[in-house]
Amino acid sequence: MNISIKRDSKTESFKLQSTSPITLLSALYDIKSELDPTLTFDAGCKSGVCGSCAVLVNGKEQLACSYKYQDADLIEPLKYHPVLRDLKVDKNKAHQTINRGLTPKHNCTSVKTPDDEAKTKIQTDCILCNSCYSSCPVLAVNPDFLGPFTLTRVWRYLAGEGQRQGKGQAQDKGQAQGTAPTGGLLDKIQVNGIWDCTLCGECTVACPQGIDPKTDIMMLRGESGKAGYSDPNFGNMDFGTPSFGTPDFS
Ligand code: SF4
Ligand code: SF4
Ligand code: FES
Repeated sequence: MNISIKRDSKTESFKLQSTSPITLLSALYDIKSELDPTLTFDAGCKSGVCGSCAVLVNGKEQLACSYKYQDADLIEPLKYHPVLRDLKVDKNKAHQTINRGLTPKHNCTSVKTPDDEAKTKIQTDCILCNSCYSSCPVLAVNPDFLGPFTLTRVWRYLAGEGQRQGKGQAQDKGQAQGTAPTGGLLDKIQVNGIWDCTLCGECTVACPQGIDPKTDIMMLRGESGKAGYSDPNFGNMDFGTPSFGTPDFS
């Protein structure tokens, strides 16, 4: 079986001895040990837990340790990440979007009820593999877009804390209640955030954990609407001038 790997600007093909399906990650290790020790890729747990081995296979995001490779597969690094070497990318910029004040500090008086936890159980399974980020077409035109896993995380905090915020008063409200302050999270996701998402659902398809960032973003839009926010791009939209024809008063 052959496997093609994008390395810098060229694509290199490797012939593998294995005839039975093995994981892509095992194939990459075989190539590294038998054919080219310089091949560089990321991996950790080998069991779909750490999220480090995500790559593109024939244009779609896959965890290399879960995917069984097939003849003539084309393997590429994730999109929208600086490539450090071969399949290894720098995920720092994408992960920094989480840290732009979007992770509230929890205080010792924060209490989560089982109901609160149940609301966001699935989102806590995020392994930060960045597959959703790589699949999102908005990042091709707007590199400042917060991206799906960051917005999913914001929903996790909002829904999980049982908090609802009014425009401009969120932080005080959270602190006054003695619960974890959500720190005006809704304020921080209005620009380059929820309204820039096209709701295409690519992130949901790409997620190996079954998380649904698209729905979380729709929930955040709903909460934002209730709190008095609206799409900041709405005023700039051009809907054209409607034509009702020439009235005939004769
Ligand atoms: S649904 Fe939104 S966040 Fe998800 S991939 Fe599409 S544009 Fe990106
Ligand atoms: S939401 Fe899913 S695809 Fe996105 S980083 Fe988390 S686990 Fe990966
Ligand atoms: S090596 Fe950890 S998820 Fe693949």
